[in-house]
Amino acid sequence: MCGIVGYVGRSEAAPILLDGLRRLEYRGYDSAGVAIVDGDKVETRKCAGRIAALGKLMAEKPPSGTFGISHTRWATHGKPTDQNAHPHFDASGKLALVHNGVIENYQALKDQLMRDGDRKFSSETDTEVLAHLIGKLYDDSIAEATAQDSNGNATNAPPLNQRGLLVDAVRAALRQVIGTYGIALVHSDVPDFLVGARRGSPLVLGVGKEENFLASDVSAIVAYTRDAVYLNDFDVVAVERDKFEISSVAGEAGSYQLSKVEFSDADIKKGDYPHYMLKEIFEQPGSVRDAMRGRLSSEECTAKLGGLNMSPAQLRDVGRVVLTGCGTALHAAMVGEYLIEALAQIPTEVEFASEFRHRNTPMTRDTLVFAISQSGETADTLGALRESRRKGYRTLGICNNVASTIARESDGGVYMHAGPEIGVAATKSFTAQVTIMTAIGLLLGRMRHLSTSEGTRIIDALNALPTQIEEVLKLSDEIKAIAKKYANAPGMLFFGRQFHFPIALEAALKMKEITYLFAEGHPSAELKHGIIALVRPELPSVFIAPDDAVFSKNLNNIEQVRARKGPVIAVTSGAGADRLAKIADDIITIPTAPDYVSPILTVIPLQLLAYHLAVELGRDVDKPRNLAKSVTVE
Ligand code: M6R
Repeated sequence: MCGIVGYVGRSEAAPILLDGLRRLEYRGYDSAGVAIVDGDKVETRKCAGRIAALGKLMAEKPPSGTFGISHTRWATHGKPTDQNAHPHFDASGKLALVHNGVIENYQALKDQLMRDGDRKFSSETDTEVLAHLIGKLYDDSIAEATAQDSNGNATNAPPLNQRGLLVDAVRAALRQVIGTYGIALVHSDVPDFLVGARRGSPLVLGVGKEENFLASDVSAIVAYTRDAVYLNDFDVVAVERDKFEISSVAGEAGSYQLSKVEFSDADIKKGDYPHYMLKEIFEQPGSVRDAMRGRLSSEECTAKLGGLNMSPAQLRDVGRVVLTGCGTALHAAMVGEYLIEALAQIPTEVEFASEFRHRNTPMTRDTLVFAISQSGETADTLGALRESRRKGYRTLGICNNVASTIARESDGGVYMHAGPEIGVAATKSFTAQVTIMTAIGLLLGRMRHLSTSEGTRIIDALNALPTQIEEVLKLSDEIKAIAKKYANAPGMLFFGRQFHFPIALEAALKMKEITYLFAEGHPSAELKHGIIALVRPELPSVFIAPDDAVFSKNLNNIEQVRARKGPVIAVTSGAGADRLAKIADDIITIPTAPDYVSPILTVIPLQLLAYHLAVELGRDVDKPRNLAKSVTVE
C-alpha cells in the first residue's frame, strides 16, 4: 500500500526512481512523485494519476541529481490530487519526505506546529505534518548549534554534523508520532544522504556498490542489487553512497542482517503475457509444486513442515486451530478449516483478522494460531498475530514474502514459495496457501488417527496436481468464450458445497475485484433460503459441482435455478459433465481429484473466468479501481 523508492549513489537518480516506481505501481496508483536534490535545491515532480503521467512530467522537465526519493500513492488522508501527492515538504522547502502508513495524531501535531508559528500547509495529508515537524526540529537544532559557534568558538568549533542532526530530528519527531510509518527523506543542505525509518510499514535497504537504495518492497530495487537489509519496526537508517547506519527511534545503536533476495529481476517481468494476473494464473503448476517441494514424505506418509518449530508431542497435543487472514487468504483459511477438521478432526475456527484482533475469541491453552498472508505485511493480519502472541498462543505464519513482518514476528511457519505476485488480484498465492493447508491437515491428521494408506492417497493426489492444473489451463480459450457470452450480465452468483463453498467466495471476490460487477458466493443449499429471489434470465449462476459426494445435492440446486430461467455455468469433473449436459448452459470440465485437493483445481477456471470477463469489459486487470496489493493500513 503506497510504494517508496530512494536512491543515493553516482548515477542519475531520476531513471532509477521512476523504474522502481513502475515496479511498485501495484502497491497504489492514485498519484506519484519524486524529489531529487540538485545542488542546493530540491527538484520535485508530482501529479495525480498513474506513474505514466509522472514519467511524462519528468520527461518534459527532467530533474537531475544523484540522490532522491519517490512515491506511488494509495490515498488515505486527502483525495488523490496533485497537491496531496508525495513528496511533501517542510516550511523551508529544503526537506522532502515520502511516507506510507497513517499518522493518527497528525491533527494534534499540526495544532502544536501552528501554535509554535504561522505555517502554511499545502495539502490535506498527514505526511506533510510530519515533514514540517522534522524540518522544524532540524532547523531548531541547526540554529542552536550555530548560536554556540558564534559564541566565541566559531573558528575552532567542530564542523556542523548536519547528517547527525538530521537523523536526531527524525528520531525526535517519530517519538511524537502515534501511528504507522515507512518514510524516506532528503534535505538539500545535507548532500548525498537519505534517512529512512519504519514502524508498521515495510522498508528495506538495498545495498549496492557505491550506491544504496531504500524501498518499501525489494521488487523495486532487485534489478540493481539483491543484497538487502529488511528493517525492523522503530529502525532509523542513515544512508550514504558507501555506508549506512541503523539505530533505533530511541537512539540506540541497531544491528542488522544482510539477506540475499531470493528472486531476480526476470521473475518480476510480465514476459509475453498481457497481464501479470494471467502470467500468475499460468504459473500455478510450478507454484503449487514449489509449495509442497520437499514437504511430503512418502516413507512416513505425512507432511514434513520443519518451519513450524514444533516437536511431535506438541503437534500431537494441538487441541484447537484458529486460522486468520484477510480477503483471499481468509478464503484459503476457510478451505483449511474443512481440511483440518476432515483430516485431523481438530476443531478449527476461521477468524477475519480484523475481527480477531479486536474481539475476545475464546481460546484454549492448546490452541494453535495461523496468520495467513501473501504479503506478510497486511496490517489487520499482523495485528491479529500480535494479539495472539501477546496472549501467549503459539502463532505461526503462512507467508509468501520472505522476511516480511508476519514471517519475522511469528513463532514459526511455512513459506509459500509462490514467487513474486504482482497482480493485485491474488491467484497463485491462493493455490499455494491451500496446498499448504492440505499439508498441515495431513501432518496433524497423521499425528492422530489418519492411516498410512490415507496419508499416501493424499500425497499421491497432491503430487498429481501440477499436471492436472496444466490440463485446466488448457481450457482458457473455452472459458474466454463463456466470458464473452456473458459480457452483458449484470453480475454473477457463485455456489459451492463443502470444500467448494470457500471457492465460491473466492471466485466472487475475483469477479468483483477486477470486473467491478456484482458477485456473491454462497453455500449451494442456501440458494433456497433467500438468494433464489435474485435468480432471473439475465443473471448467471456459477455452480462448483465436481463429481463428488455432494454432486447430486448440487444438481438439485442447479435444477432450482433452471426452473426459474436462470442461466447456469457449471464447473464439474468426471461423470458430472454427462449428468449436467442437458441442464447447464455452459460446462467447464476439469480433471477428477479427491475432495482434499479438488479446490485447487476448481478455483483456477474461475480465476480465468474473472480474468477474461474483465478483459472483455476493458478493465485494468492488474491495477483494479481503488485497490492496492498489500493493505498495510487499518
Ligand atoms: O497479502 P495478504 O494475503 O495478507 O492480503 C490479503 C488481502 O488483502 C488480499 O488477499 C486481497 O483480498 C486481494 N486483493 C485478493 O485478490
